[in-house]
Amino acid sequence: MSFVIGISGASGIILSYLLIEKLTAAGERVSIVMTRDASLTAQQELGSDFATAERIVSQLPPSSQQRVEIFHIHDFMAPIASGSHQTKGMVIVPCSMATMAAVSMGLSDNVLRRAADVTIKEGRKLVVVPREAPFNSIHLENMLKLSKCGVSIFPPIPAWYAHPKTLREAEEYLVNRILDQLGVNVPYQRWGSSSE
Ligand SMILES: Cc1cc2nc3c(=O)[nH]c(=O)nc-3n(C[C@H](O)[C@H](O)[C@H](O)COP(=O)(O)O)c2cc1C
Repeated sequence: MSFVIGISGASGIILSYLLIEKLTAAGERVSIVMTRDASLTAQQELGSDFATAERIVSQLPPSSQQRVEIFHIHDFMAPIASGSHQTKGMVIVPCSMATMAAVSMGLSDNVLRRAADVTIKEGRKLVVVPREAPFNSIHLENMLKLSKCGVSIFPPIPAWYAHPKTLREAEEYLVNRILDQLGVNVPYQRWGSSSE
């Protein structure tokens, strides 16, 4: 079984790459679906090497690449679009306000949104990583709606108490905390621990 990673067009595309990297390094399988607008954001933030799901995966070590499958955003025959296909859960990272709104309304008009709908209806773990600032009342109401369905709302807010020295360290910490949400344990410096 795989974890589904939905990549939408909010800022913070690097978080999806780091999550895929860590999940596959931990031996997990990953199914990726990326929106068209996520490609635009990826191009803007990370350059052409990350502008498609295929290019993101090509940045991984070969052993990790074998653990990844990619689905087209409109391939409704993809197994992740069906509840009978078992998964370990899903993360939408980063989650745009557009995708958040669609998922909160049950609007399954692309495979990312459909996979999220399936994850909720099957009672599986769904983590969304919403990126916007400031949030307006519409965003907040959509998040509340999803939270009431058991969805974990995990905004990518740095943990200053972890004393990150670089943006990458802050990103790594966030991704480690997302892995905690998924029940995937990777060693990292936790609060109150002297090592690991
Ligand atoms: C460089 C860039 C950064 C963006 N950042 C955000 C963001 O942080 N949050 C957000 O909700 N939308 C952001 N957007 C706008 C979304 O990409 C846009 O609403 C898009 O339609 C989302 O579609 P999707 O959810 O299907 O990917 C950004 C767009 C660009 C080009």
